[in-house]
Amino acid sequence: MRFQVPRGTVDILPEEQKYWEYIQNTTKKISADFGYAKIDTPIFEDTGLFLRSVGESSDILQKETYTFLDRGGDSLTLRPEGTASVARAYVEHGMHNQPQPVRLFYLFENFRYERPQSGRYRSFHQFGVEAFGETEFYIDVEVIELCWNLMTTLGLNDLTLVLNSIGCMNCRPIYLNELINYFKERIDKMCPDCNKRINSNPLRILDCKQNSCEEFIESSPKSVSLLCNECSEHYEKVTASLSNIKIPFETDHKLVRGLDYYSKTVFEIVPPLEGRTKVLAGGGRYDGLIEQIDGPSVPGVGFAMGIERIIDNLKRLEISVPVENSLQILIACMGENAKNHGIEIAAAIRQEKISAIIGPSRGIKSQMKYASSIHATHVVIIGDDEINKQTYQVKNLNTGEQEEISQKNLINFFKKLQ
Ligand code: HAM
Repeated sequence: MRFQVPRGTVDILPEEQKYWEYIQNTTKKISADFGYAKIDTPIFEDTGLFLRSVGESSDILQKETYTFLDRGGDSLTLRPEGTASVARAYVEHGMHNQPQPVRLFYLFENFRYERPQSGRYRSFHQFGVEAFGETEFYIDVEVIELCWNLMTTLGLNDLTLVLNSIGCMNCRPIYLNELINYFKERIDKMCPDCNKRINSNPLRILDCKQNSCEEFIESSPKSVSLLCNECSEHYEKVTASLSNIKIPFETDHKLVRGLDYYSKTVFEIVPPLEGRTKVLAGGGRYDGLIEQIDGPSVPGVGFAMGIERIIDNLKRLEISVPVENSLQILIACMGENAKNHGIEIAAAIRQEKISAIIGPSRGIKSQMKYASSIHATHVVIIGDDEINKQTYQVKNLNTGEQEEISQKNLINFFKKLQ
């Protein structure tokens, strides 16, 4: 039997790594520009953490978690998203005792047992930020600005930022009530899933993509028109500030997000002509989350973006990512004597922190071919003659030029090219 990667997962092959490095470097730089510090958390957590935070009625907890009993009988769940884990770490390490707000970022792998399709994986990576301990609107704006800057810095210039407010503990029940009453009158004309959602999680009806439901959803009550004074003021300040700093956005009353912990501001970044399944980044405020996991009453706001989806979009826009053009030297050796000599030369080159690779034990033509396949910049050709004369032929694979370099000058020759 030949093994393959598990369904919904992919290998990240060497030729794909440049995209990952580009995203890692860009996210690191922008996080630092905004004062966010890196955090990593374990790949699994107590199942209860996600039940309490992401929410029992969310799609993730209903059908997408990888949950298992370990050998000690504890129920653990592979991390389906980062916010709950980072919030748990914030509480566990007493970060609420530090000066607030605490700004954190992460880039790690998550797991969701979803139906695999393009842009939707069972194992995927997120870059995300979480800011804890600030209720004021400016931090919502900061997080959205960071997300937007990141997209544009990466070169993704045709995206749309979609914004909404889903209110707080006080005004959301009023909105939910209106929504349930509205849909109850129409539910017999709506799809079976929405018929289930009206009892389990009525907000999720707004995410339904079925034609039969669309027109009802479009004219359903809007949360922003039912916000309490505090939420309404907060939302107005967020939108005004985004306009001030010239971040373009659209509002959409159907945007409610799929996780239970949100309050007030929610937002997503979507590519053109794509449905919700291809959302590139999503986030919002979650003022009750820390308390829900038995921490102090601390507000929070953040977002996460899917790295695989970002890479799909870099490719869609044919954005050429910068590749580090460092020297890579192939030592092509003709015969065993030359090989031993070549090993010494390679070691000396590597001492200078320059990459040197020994060619395969084949003819010169085949070694040249190999050098191109690994994107070597130079080939040093060593045979018995070269050893006797103490000079080597050095071929520059970018220009095709070949020159003779003496043994004692070889290292300096490459050092100067660095
Ligand atoms: P989310 O909307 O579930 O939010 O995921 C955020 C992003 O992760 C999505 O927009 C998408 O790009 C990517 N993503 C999600 N699921 C998959 C998948 N199966 N395959 C590929 N990419 C995927 C959260 O996870 C929240 N924790 C975001 C947040 C942070 N809210 C506040 N802080």
